[in-house]
Amino acid sequence: MNHGSCIAWLSIAFLVRVSATEGIVETLGQRVYPHVGDDDMCIDDSTSADGGILAQARFNYPWGIAYDEQTWNVYVADCGCADTSKENDKIRRINLKEKTVSTVSGSSQGFEDGNGEVAKFAHTAGMALDSVNKKMYIADSGNDVIRAMDLKNYEVSTYAGKGREKGFLDGIVNSARFDNPQQLELHKSTKRLYIADTDNHAIRVINMTGAVHVVRTITGGPTQIGYLDGSLTEAKWQHPTGMAYDLKNDILYVSDHYNHVIRKINFQKGYVTTIAGTGKAGSLDSSISGGVFLNYPEGLAYDGRYNVLYVAEFGNNCIRMVNLTNMSLRVLAGNKLGTRDAIGRDAQFYHPTCLTLDRANMLLYVTDQYNHRVRTVTTLGNTKQADSKNMVFKHLGHVDAYRDYYVHHGTTLLTSLYLLVALLFVFLLLCCARHRYGIRAFAMKLAGYQRLNKHQRFV
Ligand SMILES: *[C@@H]1O[C@H](CO)[C@@H](O)[C@H](O)[C@H]1NC(C)=O
Ligand SMILES: *[C@@H]1O[C@H](CO)[C@@H](O)[C@H](O)[C@H]1NC(C)=O
Ligand SMILES: *[C@@H]1O[C@H](CO)[C@@H](O)[C@H](O)[C@H]1NC(C)=O
Repeated sequence: MNHGSCIAWLSIAFLVRVSATEGIVETLGQRVYPHVGDDDMCIDDSTSADGGILAQARFNYPWGIAYDEQTWNVYVADCGCADTSKENDKIRRINLKEKTVSTVSGSSQGFEDGNGEVAKFAHTAGMALDSVNKKMYIADSGNDVIRAMDLKNYEVSTYAGKGREKGFLDGIVNSARFDNPQQLELHKSTKRLYIADTDNHAIRVINMTGAVHVVRTITGGPTQIGYLDGSLTEAKWQHPTGMAYDLKNDILYVSDHYNHVIRKINFQKGYVTTIAGTGKAGSLDSSISGGVFLNYPEGLAYDGRYNVLYVAEFGNNCIRMVNLTNMSLRVLAGNKLGTRDAIGRDAQFYHPTCLTLDRANMLLYVTDQYNHRVRTVTTLGNTKQADSKNMVFKHLGHVDAYRDYYVHHGTTLLTSLYLLVALLFVFLLLCCARHRYGIRAFAMKLAGYQRLNKHQRFV
């Protein structure tokens, strides 16, 4: 790369501006090991490894994610592949302060309570943090149970359901049964733990006040598979997964995964309504009769400050944002399959699955499952500009870089103008240097030429 293009690059880098509704996507440390094998094949050479430094750690299939803002720890449910030797069902901890990754619980696939490696899980999925009691609840989907992990000593116990016994039964936690529960949402002040009981096509809840904790079905059930809005008892679901709770309005938002819609449960009205999606899968830009398609929406996070819902859209490889004031959808980041860190639609994901909101830093932590890594995406309210120097150098030498930083962000008139002025300035400087003139002398010479030309023209 010669000096001229280097200077041009830096001027571009200097001018990177991020609009309020674009997320800056970055990878949290780890090296990139792209997925090997087909899209639906859970077999590849990716294994997981802890790292003293985050940059060396690897993940297998990160699924659930939860952030503990008191300790700066991001917990990741690192999932294994069912029925393969790549069993890797562990709870990993990313310490953002120390930039380390460690395994706090789990080893090979199985069902075992206990500490550290003794504990065994099967397909660790969604997690919910109880920051008051320092506990993490884990949807142990393959074992059809909800586990509890003590964050003081990482002791794992079985909280609800009976290991390796599927079913659909309400009652006291240890007599209740689930079928492939995949996501959890805990509401601290009401002490309600919502469970997306995925293969029962139901939303369940546990009342965690008092000594006896009871599981109750809110809506849906194994005989109610389908897609229907209506009262809690009428509504039909198909494979519900992600959830987010809005306490102020007493509303639970749910990703109805196989129906490709996001729905809300209004507890006051006892009613289920679809708020986004048409019921059919579609690509990012397709729409029919005013409706916009979703494609396997999964993780959800609610931000009451802006009244928005963030959605990890597994099928369309993006993070979307639902404006709950007028129910409009827009892409925060991502567009197509790939690994690229970038801004807004230039960023790429490979099946983003779950996300959690860090309200203090205005960031989403996203499990980018088939890329085997954890990404961060800036949210509304984040005033960070793209770390242009870092991002440009990361992309230097890639054809995409120019597109990322100029075509997409440089098309606004203002930016183009800045760029033009900057390039003109650089050009002038180079000319001055080349002709060994001072700026003043150079300007005078330029003016002299012009006068001469004018004079010549009039003669
Ligand atoms: C939760 O359980 C407590 C104690 O058993 C009870 O007082 C309360 O009414 C229950 N709440 C709900 C919403 O069922
Ligand atoms: C959501 O839509 C409302 C109504 O159009 C608008 O006032 C508000 O600014 C939007 N919020 C975001 C975050 O775009
Ligand atoms: C909703 O609000 C956003 C932001 O103000 C706006 O861009 C969008 O056009 C609105 N959509 C609808 C359907 O009103």
